[in-house]
Amino acid sequence: MQLNDNFQKLQKNYLFANIGQRVRAYQAAHPEADIIRLGIGDVTRPLPAAAIEAMHRAVEDMAGADTFVGYPTDYGLHFLEDAIQADYARIGVDVDISEIYISDGAKSDTGNIGDIFGADNAVAVCDPVYPVYVDTNVMAGRAGEIAADGHWSKLLYLTCTAENDFAPQVPDEHADLVYLCSPNNPTGQAMSEAQLSDWVAYANREGAVLLYDAAYEAFITDGSPRSIFLIPGARTCAIEFRSFSKTAGFTGVRCAYTVVPKELERNGINIGTLWGRRQATKFNGVSYITQKGAEATLTEEGRVQVQETLDYYQANAKAIRAGLESAGFKCWGGINSPYVWLKAPEGMASWDLFDLLLNECQIVGTPGSGFGPAGEGYFRLTGFGTAERTAEAVRRIQARFA
Ligand code: MLT
Repeated sequence: MQLNDNFQKLQKNYLFANIGQRVRAYQAAHPEADIIRLGIGDVTRPLPAAAIEAMHRAVEDMAGADTFVGYPTDYGLHFLEDAIQADYARIGVDVDISEIYISDGAKSDTGNIGDIFGADNAVAVCDPVYPVYVDTNVMAGRAGEIAADGHWSKLLYLTCTAENDFAPQVPDEHADLVYLCSPNNPTGQAMSEAQLSDWVAYANREGAVLLYDAAYEAFITDGSPRSIFLIPGARTCAIEFRSFSKTAGFTGVRCAYTVVPKELERNGINIGTLWGRRQATKFNGVSYITQKGAEATLTEEGRVQVQETLDYYQANAKAIRAGLESAGFKCWGGINSPYVWLKAPEGMASWDLFDLLLNECQIVGTPGSGFGPAGEGYFRLTGFGTAERTAEAVRRIQARFA
């Protein structure tokens, strides 16, 4: 028996599982504690009414012999692909139906995309970074060994710091695969058109593929590009991941999509064909009921309802940022993102701030160091809570620090 030894190299628990364990232990020891959870980016608002109604109707469809749907064929059902295509058209991006692959999540897709790339590719990731990109490359043997500084020996790190406003800079070195996330998880910063253009130029020059995670694009308010495909040249070098999770409250329902442009080829092979082959073999699609719900979020009525929810979370994020700044914290994000990224008090490590906030304020956040060594000394709070609990969290932090 041989196991995949790469799994032994990983930290025992996924970041959010680790936090969950700590919070459960604290709650068990302090049953009276009124904990406010602003850690994992999970939504709290109900699904848009348009989605609920469409899903009810879809359940009824499943009850009729003529309307029943079995395996959701191909890479998504055409009504949802059409709606996604129209959604892209609204921002001026042309996407062909054949380029859209509907799935159960951007987490799954950004994790699974590595299946179609070789083990010896040079992979670039931001630091700090959404842990899925790193952990899945560790599993695939592309990351090498972890060093004392917390970096994996074979990964190329794009260090994002306050000095570069947490924007990944194009490196001098070659990379084959580059993970970018904008608006960024965890820092909440959105990349500008000029920054994305630099990356597209780099990828086309180097023959690299940009793995562009746009799961938070709906939170953009300042005119930053909502799709990598708004950047000329991106169709020959980028794959885009999008999701209904944070946009339409589908974290529990599960629906997302990946766009692989027809022009994207490497070594004379079409990348979309490989991704389609991978998905057709290992994935049987998203349920009809879910796809109907997702489609409804892209109707005129659905869009209005989705926007109300986005506004709600955005108001929370702004309140967190403003409240923490008034308590003396330096903050980023919270403008184009549900995430606020803050600097811990001078000299305080991320996990120390986590413990302090949990023990003294009964607030759960996410330690920046959980996203990589450059996140040390930083901390992430999410705007996905309720408005009341968010306001209460801000009050508690202000009372402790102001
Ligand atoms: C997060 O908190 O970073 C997200 O919830 C993770 C995810 O979307 O998988």
